[in-house]
Amino acid sequence: MAEQELNRDEISPMPPSVQNGSAELLAWLKRMRQDQPVYRDPVGIYHVFRYKDVQQVTLDPQTFSSDSATVIPGVPAELTSGMLSVTDPPAHAKLRKIAGQAFSPKRIKDLEPRVVEITEQLLADLPAAEFDFVDLFSHPQPALVIAELLGIPREDVPKFRAWDEKLLATQVPDRNNEAEMAAAAEVAMGGGAFGELKAYMLELCGKRRAQAEDDFISALVHAEVDGERLGDNEAANLCIQLLLAGHVSTTAVLGHLLLALDGNPEVAAELRADRELIPAAIEELLRHQPPAPKFARFTTVDTEVAGVAIPAKSVVMVWVLSANHDEQVFTEPDSFDIHRTPNKHVAFGHGIHFCFGSALARIEIRTALEMLFDKFDDIRVAPEAQIEYYESEMFAVKRIPLLAS
Ligand code: HEM
Repeated sequence: MAEQELNRDEISPMPPSVQNGSAELLAWLKRMRQDQPVYRDPVGIYHVFRYKDVQQVTLDPQTFSSDSATVIPGVPAELTSGMLSVTDPPAHAKLRKIAGQAFSPKRIKDLEPRVVEITEQLLADLPAAEFDFVDLFSHPQPALVIAELLGIPREDVPKFRAWDEKLLATQVPDRNNEAEMAAAAEVAMGGGAFGELKAYMLELCGKRRAQAEDDFISALVHAEVDGERLGDNEAANLCIQLLLAGHVSTTAVLGHLLLALDGNPEVAAELRADRELIPAAIEELLRHQPPAPKFARFTTVDTEVAGVAIPAKSVVMVWVLSANHDEQVFTEPDSFDIHRTPNKHVAFGHGIHFCFGSALARIEIRTALEMLFDKFDDIRVAPEAQIEYYESEMFAVKRIPLLAS
């Protein structure tokens, strides 16, 4: 089928930036769902916007691979081998089994009292005056939890904030800007903040291989699946994936939560009055503002989505944010309605790569909100605050100056 041309006088050919929030992007996505549900942009990337098409793509890993090497030559295999989210079947199932040791429902449930203790400590250490919620709470809470789960020393956790900042600030490069292209190439080849994190994790895996402790990383480097052990490179990559995926998204959601409650005081009051509503409010927040607005897939063969031909070796952007606002599935999708039911959002993905840490994330977010409500009667974003978001693949706020009493 012939590709439809976009009327470029009316609508931007590329997704708008989220640096000042998602309003402009949401309006663009709405137009795209209506006019161009499967769209080839000027760079040649295919974008998939509707809920049912997002499901089709995510449920078919044979056709829509997660491994960029399918399409983008030259990325060294050692950079990603071991990372769950970019591994295809059958290796994917093996990795998921290994990582599953740390994330069984029982282990996650047992971790709940530690999540409470960690949260309690962070709240106790907050200064009385205005503070940055991201620096002092929404980043360290999930970072400390995932570090403890993996067996990363607590004193190393503050280092992750600087690495995360650099990783989140790594923009999709402008092809005409040499400096940006060079920075992106450095990251792609394993340098920059990613390189520092990799060196850190390789060293830690090496230490645990030499002398095992009672933690996940020790179990991982000694585990055998189908008679094979993970090499240090694969183990380090898997740990990096678990570490980053295990706190960056949750940090973003905690930030969105604070802003959503600040902007909707009646919802905050309702949740304070009836804490049973909190889990549904978290699901609605995940639907409304997913921290990963999109992720990529790579076609292995010529295929078709919603009648649009997509050739083999194409990059396909799967728009979670758009699927979560698809009016065919969610009534009044742009309103933030904590009573929405059912709420089958895809903020945690779909299919074999469905988020590994969804249960943990839900526990962390619920615990955080419950305990913030317990400690403070009044939580407000400082009135003069300029809220800025990272210009990155993640939708995450940089800082939230908060007044709480
Ligand atoms: C609210 C917080 C979170 C959100 C919104 C989120 C979202 C997602 C999404 C959309 C995917 C699918 C990506 C794809 O299909 O390509 C995913 C995968 C993944 N998530 Fe999360 N995530 C969150 C928290 C966590 C936590 C706490 C962990 C803890 C370890 C985690 C670990 C992972 C891993 C390892 C994968 C890859 C799974 C696979 O490929 O089999 N995530 N997440």
